[in-house]
Amino acid sequence: MRISIIGSGYVGLSGGVGLVSKGHDVTLVDIDEEKVEKINSGEPPIYEEGMEKMLNEALENNKLKATTDTEKAIKDTEVTFIAVGTPSDADGKIDLTAVKAASRDVGKSLKENDSYHVISVKSTVVPETVEDEIIPILEKYSNKKAGSDFSVCMTPEFLREGVALDDFLNPDRIVIGELDERSGNKLEEVYKDFDAPIVRTSIKAAEIIKYASNSLLATKITFANEIGNICKKLDVDVYDVMDAVGLDHRINRDFLNAGCGYGGSCFPKDVKALINKSKELGHEPELLKNVDGSNERQKTKIVELAEEKIGKLDGKHVGILGLSFKPGTDDIRESPAINVIQELLQKNCTVHAHDPKAMENMKELFPEVNYYEDPHDVLQNSEVCKILTDWDNYNNLNKNHLSHTKVFEGKRVLDEDVNREGLCW
Ligand code: UDX
Repeated sequence: MRISIIGSGYVGLSGGVGLVSKGHDVTLVDIDEEKVEKINSGEPPIYEEGMEKMLNEALENNKLKATTDTEKAIKDTEVTFIAVGTPSDADGKIDLTAVKAASRDVGKSLKENDSYHVISVKSTVVPETVEDEIIPILEKYSNKKAGSDFSVCMTPEFLREGVALDDFLNPDRIVIGELDERSGNKLEEVYKDFDAPIVRTSIKAAEIIKYASNSLLATKITFANEIGNICKKLDVDVYDVMDAVGLDHRINRDFLNAGCGYGGSCFPKDVKALINKSKELGHEPELLKNVDGSNERQKTKIVELAEEKIGKLDGKHVGILGLSFKPGTDDIRESPAINVIQELLQKNCTVHAHDPKAMENMKELFPEVNYYEDPHDVLQNSEVCKILTDWDNYNNLNKNHLSHTKVFEGKRVLDEDVNREGLCW
């Protein structure tokens, strides 16, 4: 099928390259000309395992192209995914600027389009957004009626950064929220070669399925952190506890790794957005509010732990290993490292840092931090060091260097024989 995707970030690009591998022809649309040029020259604008190879294969076989021209992309395709970003404002409310602009462009392009077209929203939007905000814009600018001349679906995306392509191609389920049966059937055709159950439902249900999934995962992590904080007081290793708890098939072991809290572009934003929407609907979401607040506090708990064990950190040389919000990515959005560095700088510490991928991004936020290509230099220069991302290669650090400084782990990565103090273990 000929498919266009508006927005070529993590979701758009991984989806585009993934759909090509399932035999579809894909046009990626982005307003950023530089991004479009990069994609067309085979250079992915984001770091993702396997992306460069698959992108280049797709380009060589003429199965994928990127453009800034929405109108032509719509004309040349049958289904269009909207996959632009939905950042959140200070109150956690999602910012629909990009979604509305994309909907306007798509609407205008539909006006001149004679064939039946399905628009499917992949951007994460709170319940009621597609029906109350997006469809009216599409109808206004196309001068057509949704459900007859064109139709609209909502197909949330559950991929994780770092394994985006693999997640896109091997999902646990595909959710299709449909305005009508015809559009749902069309979307089902897009996904016909995916080996996953397809859930067909209403648009509103599809919207909240995405938030419910991410909020539950965030809650699971926060629960593990809470138990981890209790275990620390008891001198019990929370990982042993969760290994046993996770054997209960009703619970399972995934997302019970305690540590310095969750970050990234989804969990923090989605939990906050659901809190906001819930309040708007007249329900005070106590559990979610606690998850959000507890995660914020967990991020800097490692500073408290270090001070409890070795005294005030003020003015000390402190090392940070790991800056990205998780391994396998250069993304630092909502990373615990940001909160920890902020707190250390307030204490007039000299901060030395390393990350295999995210140093350039962190330099933009904190130019005053000393960055090193070799993590051993961080250990060498620090009186105390904190590991904040569970990059595998930190487990290969030279043991002599590790014994040079007191190491605190916010994410568990080192072997048990190394002299380290875990946040919850
Ligand atoms: C998440 C969801 O998993 C994905 O389905 C959704 O589409 C987008 O948001 P992502 O943000 O890429 O994906 O990362 P994920 O691997 O889920 O990790 C999120 C955060 O939780 C990271 O900071 C990670 O370190 C933390 N985490 C995860 C834990 O602290 N403990 C765990 O057990 C698991």
